[in-house]
Amino acid sequence: MRWTTAKIRQSFLDFFAERGHTIVPSASLIPKGDPTLLFVNAGMVPFKDYFLGVRTPQYLRVVDVQKCLRISGKHNDLEAVGRDTYHHTFFEMLGNWSFGDYYKEEAIRWHWELITKVWGVDPKLLYATVHKDDKESEDIWIKLNVLPRDRILRFGDKDNFWEMGPTGPCGYNSEISIDRGEAACSPEKNHPGQKCFVNVDGCERFIELGNLVFIQYNRDESGKLTPLPKKHVDTGTGLERVAAALQSLETGKILGNYDIDLFQTIIKKIEIAAKELGDGHPYGKNVDSDISYRAIADHARTMTFLIADGVMPGNTDREYVLRRIIRRAARHGRYLGIHRPFLAMAHAGVVEAMGDAYPEIKKAAAKTAEAITQEESRFGETLDRGLELIDTELARIKKSGAHTLPGEIAFKLYDTYGFPLDLTEDVLRNHSIDVDVAGFNRLMEEQKERGRAARKDDAAAPEINLGAGTASRFVGYHTYEGESEVLAAGGKDGDQVAVVVAETPFYPEG
Ligand code: SER
Repeated sequence: MRWTTAKIRQSFLDFFAERGHTIVPSASLIPKGDPTLLFVNAGMVPFKDYFLGVRTPQYLRVVDVQKCLRISGKHNDLEAVGRDTYHHTFFEMLGNWSFGDYYKEEAIRWHWELITKVWGVDPKLLYATVHKDDKESEDIWIKLNVLPRDRILRFGDKDNFWEMGPTGPCGYNSEISIDRGEAACSPEKNHPGQKCFVNVDGCERFIELGNLVFIQYNRDESGKLTPLPKKHVDTGTGLERVAAALQSLETGKILGNYDIDLFQTIIKKIEIAAKELGDGHPYGKNVDSDISYRAIADHARTMTFLIADGVMPGNTDREYVLRRIIRRAARHGRYLGIHRPFLAMAHAGVVEAMGDAYPEIKKAAAKTAEAITQEESRFGETLDRGLELIDTELARIKKSGAHTLPGEIAFKLYDTYGFPLDLTEDVLRNHSIDVDVAGFNRLMEEQKERGRAARKDDAAAPEINLGAGTASRFVGYHTYEGESEVLAAGGKDGDQVAVVVAETPFYPEG
């Protein structure tokens, strides 16, 4: 195969290196000094401070492949994973960057050249989009004279104004999409009869091969846009979908993201697990087990990379996301008839497919396999009983003609059987049954209240009586250590003390 995923990755880096960009490695999935995000969800996140002008970049042109996780916040694809053939929680984003250097013209021209000349995609298959108010980008496309006018499409904010989250650097974008032909047109069942086209969701006929964002504003908490001191280029191209498009053109078959060489290496390992430990269904033969194959392959990447970046399964924030992912993957294992820990086998596939590009996952391989297996074993003890409870409840609900699982049952699944709420919802989705989330949350709140009351009785817990007007200045974006003045202190004979200092790098939520 000519365009293996590894080769596409390298060709992108080489193309922009030849055009004056410095190749930099992917940053960690854990954002540094950015309390607005749980995970890096786009290639631009590690460079946010350069866009905002609060840090000066070492290079004005950079190219990289960034590990991204879209599993929380504004960009969250978790629910779609497995159900279609092109959503991921973890994915690799190819990006070239201009920090106040070149702008729209070069970004557009170079991407066109990369896609059509290097990757060899026939221009007849391509479309460009621009924001309806971004005349500058539209004129650049027209001047480039590579696409007929009716294939330079205008859209509004939803499609052509890119933002990383509710706040942060943002701006108009221009995208390049490929039409993979009618054979690729398979609108999902929740989009029946739709007319598939560029920017219409729910079908893999038209897919985006590049998102070129022209960062020129910062959005603040009040929603206001302020122009940035300089204009920047932030591009993002999902490696997996480029591989799917190029490998489809090469083989003459319509391939989804999970059919590319990289994912096949992982899926083969899951097939071995299913054969040795489960019911032996291979991938590609049954709609339901295919969903589980894709979900496991996706989640195996997420757990592998999160653990390599220092996250371990636990009960809060990032740790809980990882725990949920492992538990969801373990549950999908049950659907392949696997009733024993097996995710370390899928993880080995990830290391085999991606360890050369990301040495950190090779280095962490033993630790990762152990952490995954431990979590899986722990959950495995209650998973089957939890699934049985769901089955019993489903039968009861269906018989009564209702459509909702009571909050008490969801809470029991959480509290007694270790089922994260989203896992319960995921199981029920196949049966079109909702969860009474409000009831679940009420019970969670009551439990927390009981915990708080219990802690209040704990004499060792330090308490500080803050005088009026005591305030700490947050310095954490730029500083991680420092000396400061103690404004207040508390704590009794026990070994816990608490202090309030004038300046702190700790963000209250963290
Ligand atoms: N920030 C844009 C995106 O995530 C382009 O890199 O799609």
